[in-house]
Amino acid sequence: MSGVKSKIEKLRKELDDHNYRYYVLDDPLISDIEWDVLFRELQTLEEAHPDLITMDSPTQRVGGEPLSSFGNVTHRIPMLSLQNGMNEEEIRAFDERMQKGLETDPIEYAAEPKLDGVAVELVYEKGKFVSGSTRGNGVVGEDITQNLKTIRAIPLKLRKGQKICPTLLEIRGEVFISKKDFGKLNTNQEKAEEHRFANPRNAAAGSLRQLDSGITAKRPLSIYCYQPGVVEGTAFETQADFLNAIQQWGLPVNPEVKVVCGIDEMLKYQLHLETMRDELPYEIDGTVFKVNLLRQQDILGNRSRTPRWAIAGKFKAQQVTTIVEEIIASLGRTGAVTPVAKLKPVVVGGVTVTNATLHNQDEIDRKDIRIGDTVLIQRAGDVIPKIVQVIKEKRPKKTVRYTLPKTCPECNHKVHRPEGEAVARCQNLSCPAQVKRKIQHFVSKNAMDIDGLGEKLVDQLVDAGLVKTIDNLYNLNEDQLADLDRMAEKSAQNIVSAITASKNTDFHRFVFALGIRNVGEHAAKVLGQAFHGDMDSFMSAGFETLETIDEIGPIVAETVVKFWENKQNRSVVTACFSHGISLKKPAETSSGILSGKRFVFTGALETMTRAGAKTAVEKLGGKVSGSVSNNTDFVVAGPGAGSKKNKAEKLGIPILTEKDFKEMIP
Ligand code: IVH
Repeated sequence: MSGVKSKIEKLRKELDDHNYRYYVLDDPLISDIEWDVLFRELQTLEEAHPDLITMDSPTQRVGGEPLSSFGNVTHRIPMLSLQNGMNEEEIRAFDERMQKGLETDPIEYAAEPKLDGVAVELVYEKGKFVSGSTRGNGVVGEDITQNLKTIRAIPLKLRKGQKICPTLLEIRGEVFISKKDFGKLNTNQEKAEEHRFANPRNAAAGSLRQLDSGITAKRPLSIYCYQPGVVEGTAFETQADFLNAIQQWGLPVNPEVKVVCGIDEMLKYQLHLETMRDELPYEIDGTVFKVNLLRQQDILGNRSRTPRWAIAGKFKAQQVTTIVEEIIASLGRTGAVTPVAKLKPVVVGGVTVTNATLHNQDEIDRKDIRIGDTVLIQRAGDVIPKIVQVIKEKRPKKTVRYTLPKTCPECNHKVHRPEGEAVARCQNLSCPAQVKRKIQHFVSKNAMDIDGLGEKLVDQLVDAGLVKTIDNLYNLNEDQLADLDRMAEKSAQNIVSAITASKNTDFHRFVFALGIRNVGEHAAKVLGQAFHGDMDSFMSAGFETLETIDEIGPIVAETVVKFWENKQNRSVVTACFSHGISLKKPAETSSGILSGKRFVFTGALETMTRAGAKTAVEKLGGKVSGSVSNNTDFVVAGPGAGSKKNKAEKLGIPILTEKDFKEMIP
């Protein structure tokens, strides 16, 4: 037995060492395949000796039981954001402020790339990874420990370094997906008929938000750490020391980090990173300069949401020119006819771009975009870029203004553009392309979540005339499905059971699934709360009732009323219910999220009354008291706040603005 135990320990150490070489030192000794062999060997031994499995074994990263929701985590120190320096002047002004505030010159900075990913906090107690969370609103985030554990770059226990291992170590960092992995991920998503991600940041955020950590485990997530939270049992003199120490402890730190001194070196670093931006294997959207000496950071202090001692040096938006080869009209789920420019392929920021949205006819007219034009395009975070302007000097002879067709590109039915609206829509309710998109939306993951009903199958069902409206899905039987091309009997069975299973769902999922224009997931939830999950009262609500609901504006109210004025919509929904759809009522308010939290309000409130704020806190399980003590969890300070705010500062209690507070309450 002891032989097995030492073999297991040796394998774990080897795997940890290889991870360290791969993720931290970027100098692997073995291939991925060799790593997998060692990993399997450990897995087999542990399976035969389950009593020897420990929480920090590399095999324990595969993901645990799916959660029903994430818990909340209050950050011991709020996770701040950064003030932006949009250009050279603003970076210069920042350096001058630092010189003035510290009365020294020149100032030393830690210069870091600003990664475009998702900020997280990792907590290590006595060297063991114990929990991790998202940034959330900076004060309260979500507990995503299970998901973070699946990321191989995050050590489950700290290695030995020169500095003594802290008893408590909180570390902030950015979870991201490299450009290469992002490409592969989207290819796989397409193969599995799942949706493509718009950009690496969305893919990383979506992966961390999975309730089933088994899914997160399959996503190629990575991390670079860059900022301390609470640290107990060790101290650092500078930001560079901190980064050095955590790297020795096994946490990945961006290799481009550098210490620079004075404005000239800052600007040189800014230019250097901007120039090599496309060659870096991950997406960055700027630089971060942090005053290097932690003692000096303390002197400078923080504003409410950003530290005074740091600045984000933004890059210019990425622009290139290319040619509009064609303009096509495409049809959306709600029948909107949208023009899309097909571009001569061009690389912007490491991504090949072939399409640009043109929004609508007005936009085309305003910019006078024509087929054959040379255009300047700009890519911000998203992969679908926009056309900034036409280079008129390069316009070929004999071009004509572009006008969208007056008929639907899919069914040839007339399109109609209502007075005062920018978008033209196909008016044919049974336009097959629209029907397909509506049904695809209805069955999608965040709507009715009907597994196995991919895009191609929906197309087949509509083309075969089996499904014309969503309620028809609930009439389908196995024989009809099995008759379709490339459909096995077993899959037909599975699909029918998935359809049946979807009958029992949440009110908000069903409402979102209906695809009412302007009613997204959030609005559907708000409506669920407001109507206590009662479909009849939702269907008969008038404009005034809807508009008075918090977070529902006149536009949503109007489209909802219009939707229910349409007899076909009503009868489709009624038919769904007669097929046995039954909706779960939402839990009454989101009680409990502030359970046990004590708030103190000081200074003026600008958009709500004290009484209103108190009721909001109490409804969510929290308490409001008049004075600040060690038991206080948050102080909400408005204009005119004085001694209570000072006391909170001394006690290290998070201080919120009214806006922060409103973000905490749903
Ligand atoms: S430090 C105390 N360093 O930028 C300052 N943030 O706008 C807190 N980010 O939420 C952040 N790279 O998601 C810091 N090297 C870096 C960063 C970085 C990316 C993100 C982070 C943060 C946001 C602030």
